[in-house]
Amino acid sequence: MEGEPVNVNEFQELAKQALPKMYYDFYNGGAEDQYTLKENVEAFHRITLRPRVLVDVSRIDLSTTVLGYRVSAPIMIAPTARHKLAHSEGEVATARAAASCNTIMVLSFMSTCTVEEVASSCNAIRFFQLYVYKRRDVSAQLIQRAERNGYKGIVLTVDAPRLGRREADIRNKMIAPQLKNFEGLISAEVDNDKGSKIEAFVKGTFDASLCWRDLGWLRSITKLPILIKGVLTREDAIKAVEVGVDGIIVSNHGARQLDYTPATISVLEEVVHAVVGKIPVLFDGGVRRGTDVFKALALGAQAVLVGRPVVYGLAAKGEYGVKRVIEMLKDELELTMALSGCPSVKDITRSHIRTERDRLL
Ligand code: FNR
Repeated sequence: MEGEPVNVNEFQELAKQALPKMYYDFYNGGAEDQYTLKENVEAFHRITLRPRVLVDVSRIDLSTTVLGYRVSAPIMIAPTARHKLAHSEGEVATARAAASCNTIMVLSFMSTCTVEEVASSCNAIRFFQLYVYKRRDVSAQLIQRAERNGYKGIVLTVDAPRLGRREADIRNKMIAPQLKNFEGLISAEVDNDKGSKIEAFVKGTFDASLCWRDLGWLRSITKLPILIKGVLTREDAIKAVEVGVDGIIVSNHGARQLDYTPATISVLEEVVHAVVGKIPVLFDGGVRRGTDVFKALALGAQAVLVGRPVVYGLAAKGEYGVKRVIEMLKDELELTMALSGCPSVKDITRSHIRTERDRLL
């Protein structure tokens, strides 16, 4: 591709050129047939817009709040693992971009820079994503470190009791480099010549017995607000409210876990209705355009998180690339709002879109 990318998708091509195949496949891939991977993006294409005209859109305000924190736009950075495989500066570069865009970064539990390094590198608002290990003391220590270093929320990922079957990683025998957060705590050395070492690592390390009652344990060891990431059904949304979490992220892990789950955008409204406004609902999966952000907000999300595009920006152009990805999505959202007659985020309503279901009714 010649010159500067003009949209987020074009960063993917640059990333492909920049990365060794094993790493590109790791970032790009989904589980098994990758049905959900495709659907996450394509389901957005089946939602159309219902713009209103003759509204004063001479000023557009994209800003909003997430858990009380003011952000410049409802677009956050999703937790994605191992940024140093994409760029030598790793998560520090991503966090700096988040700070310059005035948005929230969720740092992955599987980061390649430590929670301390990321915290001291910039003043971005940061949440910390958590996996619960069989060795709960390791997860508890990480939470304490995140708290001490000014992280503002815990994002508990609940869709990964085991690792999804990512066939590209199995084929490539994807390596799992030691993660700095766990140095001296847990070893990434795994004995698996057959396939993905990450899969073997997760099997040996993650606590597959984690269940709803363990939210009580988590609550007892942190004062930070807790969001759960990976809810796809009304049943689980209701449970999440019952156990008292502070927010939900509708997510299928970027289609990397259970294939043939629905596109996240197609279940967002179900979750939003189940929660009846008691806690905020955030969203991720397949966001590639400002119009996608608009559609998710119209269906009740308070904000969206973006995964792969951020990593592609990082792989292609480091901190600048991440910044450009976020800026592009913001610019597109701003234009969508102007052309749809929505001067502010709160003006975006359900009646501004038409879903497939609406067409059937
Ligand atoms: C992820 N995701 C993820 N989620 C999480 O809770 N912890 C993690 O460490 C990771 N790691 C990770 C690595 C890579 C390479 C990808 C692509 C994704 C899932 C991520 O937070 C998010 O749910 C999806 O990426 C959203 O979908 P899109 O934006 O990539 O389509």
